[in-house]
Amino acid sequence: MEGPDGSGKTTQIDLLKRYLESKGYDIVIAREPGGTAIGEVIRKIILNTEYQEMSYMTELLLYAAARAQLVNQVIKPALLERKAVICDRFVESSAVYQGIGRGLGVDTVYEVNNYALGDVTPKLTIFMDLEAEEGIKRKENQTELDRMELEDLYFHKRVVEGYRKLAALYPERIVSLDATLPIETIHSMIVEEVEKRFFKG
Ligand code: TMP
Repeated sequence: MEGPDGSGKTTQIDLLKRYLESKGYDIVIAREPGGTAIGEVIRKIILNTEYQEMSYMTELLLYAAARAQLVNQVIKPALLERKAVICDRFVESSAVYQGIGRGLGVDTVYEVNNYALGDVTPKLTIFMDLEAEEGIKRKENQTELDRMELEDLYFHKRVVEGYRKLAALYPERIVSLDATLPIETIHSMIVEEVEKRFFKG
């Protein structure tokens, strides 16, 4: 599940998890960065507002390191047990935030992340499409903003544009949904995509 901050990813993940569990599936939810003890420590380093000096390459490598741990400790074992894994963000977040937002280049991001991912690739990516301004507005009531959320509007606009570009480049694996639609409508659309790809044919 991908999209800018405030686009409703967590809400949709909860609904999808409940839906899949009602169908009898074992579901594992993983959030990025984090999802493991090591990953959560890395998350604290990445998002700490005190570390304004962090270079973009360090940031990219820390996200990739947290991801490597998540893949090896959580995702691969879950898949081997035939569980379904839903990730709250994955490698496409690095592609747009570090590749496009920070300007490191999408190819560099995928190259670095190949080491973290090995042969694990998402079968379906849902992109919750929301204008950067709207995402920021939805987060307004949050008391403390993290190091990424503190970036200016132009950074967040580049992120959203980046997601749109990626979705246009890879329409077969990235499905864009309008995040301003009602929660239940989006949920139905996600269920439809999941059923089409995983349950039919
Ligand atoms: P979260 O708020 O969705 O938990 O994500 C933390 C922040 O980290 C969010 O602003 C997006 C950013 N992020 C990246 O910049 N690159 C990544 O690879 C990931 C997973 C998240």
